[in-house]
Amino acid sequence: MIATNERQTRTAEALTERLLEAAASTFGLFAVYLGDRLGYYRHLADAGPLDPGELARRSGTHERYAREWLEQQAVLGLVEVEHEDAPAQERRFSLPPAHAAVLADEDSLDFLAPLAQLVVGAVSPMPLVVRAYRAGTGVPFSEYGRDLREGQGRMNRGMLLQQLGHEWLPAVPALHGRLAAAGARAADFGCGQGYASIGLARAYPALRVDGFDLDGPSIDDARANAARHGVADRVRFERRDVSDPALAGRYDLVFACEVLHDLGDPVGALRVARGLLREGGEVLIMDERAGERFAAGCGVWERVLYGFSVHHCLPSCLADGDAGTGTVMRPETVRRYAQAAGFRQVVLAPIDHPFFAFYRLIP
Ligand SMILES: C[S@@+](CC[C@H](N)C(=O)[O-])C[C@H]1O[C@@H](n2cnc3c(N)ncnc32)[C@H](O)[C@@H]1O
Repeated sequence: MIATNERQTRTAEALTERLLEAAASTFGLFAVYLGDRLGYYRHLADAGPLDPGELARRSGTHERYAREWLEQQAVLGLVEVEHEDAPAQERRFSLPPAHAAVLADEDSLDFLAPLAQLVVGAVSPMPLVVRAYRAGTGVPFSEYGRDLREGQGRMNRGMLLQQLGHEWLPAVPALHGRLAAAGARAADFGCGQGYASIGLARAYPALRVDGFDLDGPSIDDARANAARHGVADRVRFERRDVSDPALAGRYDLVFACEVLHDLGDPVGALRVARGLLREGGEVLIMDERAGERFAAGCGVWERVLYGFSVHHCLPSCLADGDAGTGTVMRPETVRRYAQAAGFRQVVLAPIDHPFFAFYRLIP
């Protein structure tokens, strides 16, 4: 890719090589989007090896397209080809089991195909982003469309349904105990597709959850997802700005997953969250794990965060208010916002995750 941690040879040839590699990788990710949307990975996982005609028939697509896509996947090493010297229509392709977990299995914690959908969504309103850079304005979340909101939801679905209430919250006994008690209530700020609310409700059978989001289509999706997962009787979703001081309710937990860095008024929202807490309740912020300070030699995760930030998170954050946090929200920024919102203490929860940090905000 364009940037690496290794010392780069600063020649035009070396940069050309890196840009070409970046183009191949970028198109590779976009082709993951096609494979995901068209069901190609699922068919290869279920019925492979397949030749282009078989894949086309099963997926309801055209053979010539299926053939080109399979060849591209093979040259990128995502699928394996059985006899590359066979005539083009007769070559058979398969998805190695380890790749199937990442590309085809929606329930696997390794499932990462939605990353492609998220990236496609993040770059979709590019002309608006260019205009915003010039004008110093923002690009509303809604302009990023279905791919962004659905990709975001599908990316987090597995861990929010399987890990949030079953592994992560049990690592914070004070919170875990409160959520398991009769009459417990939780709020999900910036709920998106609703999977955190649903995951909480499934993990704690007595818990009632209210999810809030500014985006209307996200609320519609969240309601449908809650019904699909059988928790619509205990999970309620409402289209609301979480910075709105009129937001009412009494909660044991206010949870916000990948939201604080997107808010135009994060301090206002944290102040609202603090006001909603019952005695002994707390706010849990799950957000991107970023280094303590800027370093050009950062790792791949922070480079990915900057990628989302320059195209999506910063423009949509600036459309929502003045904060302009961006995806690379450093621990110091969270502490500063929490302090300004009146929290007494910010404690990192003992949840070891390569990509996310969990901040307990205690009033
Ligand atoms: C990155 S998404 C995270 C969605 C969800 N929590 C998840 O983990 O999949 C950020 C969400 O915050 C919502 N959002 C942004 N500003 C908001 C605000 N002021 N009030 C309520 N929701 C907001 C967006 O609409 C979006 O759904």
